[in-house]
Amino acid sequence: MAHTFVIFGASGDLTSRKLIPALFRLHQKGRLPEQTRIVGLARRAYDNDAWRDLLARSAAEFLGDKFNADQWREFAQNILYQQGDITVSADFAALKIFLEELEGGRSATRVYYLSTAPSLYGAAAASLGEHGMAEESSGARRVVIEKPFGVDLATAKTLNAVVHQVFEERQIYRIDHYLGKETVQNLLVLRFANSIFEPLWNRNYIDHVQITVAEEVTVGSRGGYYDSSGVLRDMFQNHLLQLMMITAMEAPARFEADLVRDEKVKVLRSIKPLTGADFACDTLRGQYRGYRDEENVPPDSQTATFAVLKLAIDNWRWTGVPFYLRSGKAMSCRSTQIVIQFREPPHMLFENKHPMSKVDNRLVIQIQPAEGIQLHFQTKAPDAGMQLRLTELDFRFQREFSGLMPDAYQRLLLDALIGDASLFARSDEVELAWGVIDPIIAAWQSPAAPPLEIYEPRLWGPPGAVRWMEKQHREWFDSCPILH
Ligand code: BG6
Repeated sequence: MAHTFVIFGASGDLTSRKLIPALFRLHQKGRLPEQTRIVGLARRAYDNDAWRDLLARSAAEFLGDKFNADQWREFAQNILYQQGDITVSADFAALKIFLEELEGGRSATRVYYLSTAPSLYGAAAASLGEHGMAEESSGARRVVIEKPFGVDLATAKTLNAVVHQVFEERQIYRIDHYLGKETVQNLLVLRFANSIFEPLWNRNYIDHVQITVAEEVTVGSRGGYYDSSGVLRDMFQNHLLQLMMITAMEAPARFEADLVRDEKVKVLRSIKPLTGADFACDTLRGQYRGYRDEENVPPDSQTATFAVLKLAIDNWRWTGVPFYLRSGKAMSCRSTQIVIQFREPPHMLFENKHPMSKVDNRLVIQIQPAEGIQLHFQTKAPDAGMQLRLTELDFRFQREFSGLMPDAYQRLLLDALIGDASLFARSDEVELAWGVIDPIIAAWQSPAAPPLEIYEPRLWGPPGAVRWMEKQHREWFDSCPILH
């Protein structure tokens, strides 16, 4: 069966930087379903050749030595361009005819990828419905929706309602590219394909969990978008909560979309809502020095570029184990990691010059860029009585696996083409995630807000975050990954 991958908003950055390079890599690896054609729709006037040339240049730039001109020529034959405006009904009618002719009246799976301005997602889905382009008499029809899915719970609900008028939930693929990262999927494997971690993975052995997404970059030219979004909408509602769900969820009975998502949703439902004084005690916010000078950022902006949330999961596995979620721009280095901090041993036999501290036993899951896992534990320092020395077992993907780690979009686009929604967010998941974030955003605009602390770029966020953790007799695991 043929496959048609239709990109709405095709002239945007995402198409050239992510979607086309990912589809090309899948082609090179022989993984694209046979007869996959890619159709781009945007307002600009291009013919097929002009669009292909443009994409070839960006693919070469983003793929470096993975780009191969001969393979590109082969791949590019299946890329087509159709000029059209997503807000004009006649353009959908024309697109429909174009696609039917392309598919030669035969059955074909179609994936509609909405890579437009988020404000157009609803209108695009509605137009697909109006023109009968979602009905499945001649093959599966799926829609992939980029983030952000709404800007709060109310807008997410409205968007879900609009999209549900046209597509059934099983046809809707809400993308969060963190779920396409190999190391995030590897966390599922680590937890559910090994028997040695699971017995420890609970309140009896774990003191707390730290989930950090630190970025070295600033907001750069994205100030206009970022200032109305801030770190909670941009990173927490989606990526950090996804990492938390995968860390905390129970094992699904099978690796199937709805079973996986049922378990993730249970985690969100178990998060204890913050109320009253919690907002000031359990959340922190910061802004890097210089943010207000970025393009399109007001000089008195109160937008947070850094945040910490301390969340509690009230269930049998996790009660009493705080989950610290932290993310910021302009931090020391790029590092996404999950730290499982184990409890201290109940009784210490050995005298030690360096007394044991809470930080001794930890499992560090490096999501990026030094993808891997380290287990930190005590050993005996040789020839030094019974002195202890902290050491680590270190697994690195780059050492074990010679290829480059594939970009997250490769896995996700392939899954959308073959119809596996396990790594996409379901409607209830997105809404529940907004339900966690919305009250914090509201509290930050009220007298309950914690102070917005200005931090120096290239540090681990505001110094207040370190003091706050110390008060809880814990410490951040701040370490820049060693890349080799
Ligand atoms: C995006 C955010 O969703 O994720 C960006 O909008 C952020 O602000 C990016 O930089 C981080 O993604 P990654 O894959 O580089 O960690």
